[in-house]
Amino acid sequence: MAATLNRDDRNGALVDRFGRIVRSLRISVTDRCNLRCLYCMPAGPITWFRKERILSFEEIERVARILASLGVREIRLTGGEPLVRRDLTVLARLVSGIAGIEDLAITTNGLLLKELARPLLLAGVRRFNVHIDSLEPDGFAEVSRRDSLDLVLAGLQELERLGAVPIKINIVLLRGLNDGQIPRFVDWAWRRPYQVRFIELMPLGGGEPFETERLVPGSEVRRRVEEIRPLVPVGRDRPSAPANVFRLAGGAGDIGFINPVTEPFCGDCDRIRLTADGKVRTCLFSRTETDIAALLRGGRTDPEIALALRTAIAGKEAGGCLDLHQFYKERLPRKMWQIGG
Ligand code: 5AD
Ligand code: SF4
Repeated sequence: MAATLNRDDRNGALVDRFGRIVRSLRISVTDRCNLRCLYCMPAGPITWFRKERILSFEEIERVARILASLGVREIRLTGGEPLVRRDLTVLARLVSGIAGIEDLAITTNGLLLKELARPLLLAGVRRFNVHIDSLEPDGFAEVSRRDSLDLVLAGLQELERLGAVPIKINIVLLRGLNDGQIPRFVDWAWRRPYQVRFIELMPLGGGEPFETERLVPGSEVRRRVEEIRPLVPVGRDRPSAPANVFRLAGGAGDIGFINPVTEPFCGDCDRIRLTADGKVRTCLFSRTETDIAALLRGGRTDPEIALALRTAIAGKEAGGCLDLHQFYKERLPRKMWQIGG
C-alpha cells in the first residue's frame, strides 16, 4: 500500500470532488472547556473523552506534517477550549515549525489568555480569535454559565498590550438572551481595534433544542448595527473566509458577519478538521469520519496515512450548512465541543 501514492499524487493539492482545494486544518486539542455556553454544552455532567483516546502532541504533529506536505498552509487550534490542554505551547511550537505551515491561529474563550497569550505568541501563534457573548457580567454568565467576563477582558487587554493583531472577536447571538448587546458590541468595536464578528447560531449544540427560534439572522443583525453606525463594505479577507467584513466609519475596529445558516459559504470552504480523539472530519456537519487515530496507532506509514487523508478529502461534502434542517432533526451524537467549531 505504501507505494500507491505516485509522484503526482504526492505533489498535487488536496482537491475534493467539487474542485475545492483544502488549505486549512482545524485541530481540536481537547473536548474539555472551562465554560458551558448554552448553545454548545449541556448544563449537567458531561462524559469527556478518556485520556488514552486523545491524540498526543507527536500524533497531532505527524498528521499536520503529512497534511502540510499535501498543501495545507494554515492551522487553527480549537477545543473544547484549547488553552485548557496542558502544555499547549509545546504543541504550538511543534506545529508552527512544520515546513509549509504559514499561519497558526487559535480560537479561544479567552479565560486563560492573560497567562498564556505571551508564551503562545512566542511559540509561533500569530492570530487569536476570542469568543465572548456579552459585555455585561450577568449576561455573560447567563449565556456561558460561568461568571468569567473579567478574565476574558483581562486576556484581551493582554493581547492588545502584546500587539497581537488582528484580534477577532466571535459572538453568537441568541434572540432574547444577548441580542440586546448589539449596541454595546458596536460601541466596543468603535473604540477598540477588534474585528467584532456576529455568528449565526448553528443547530450543533449539546444544549437545549431551542436553536431555531433563538437564531437572529445576519441580515437583521446588520440592519440593527446600521441603525447605530454606518458600515463601509470591506469584503472577505480571502474568498474562503467565513466573515463578511465592514469598517465602522471613524472607528478603531471592524464588524463582521458570519452567516452559516442564512448564507452558507460552503462553496468556498477550504477547511478540514481533526478531532481531539483523532478523527478527520471534512465538514463541521459530517456524518462520517476517518479514523486517523487507528491508522497512527496501527503502525501505518506516512504515505498510507496520506492516502487515507486524500481519500477522505476527495469525498468532502458539498456542505452541511446547506442541509441544516435535516441535520437538526438527526441530532447527531458528536457535538460542537467535540468537533471544535
Ligand atoms: N453556532 C454557531 N457558532 C458556534 N460556536 C460554538 N457553537 C456554535 C453554534 N452552535 C462558535 C463559537 C466559537 C467558535 C469555535 O464556534 O463562537 O467562537
Ligand atoms: Fe466552551 Fe466554546 Fe463551547 Fe463555549 S462554545 S462551552 S467556550 S467550547
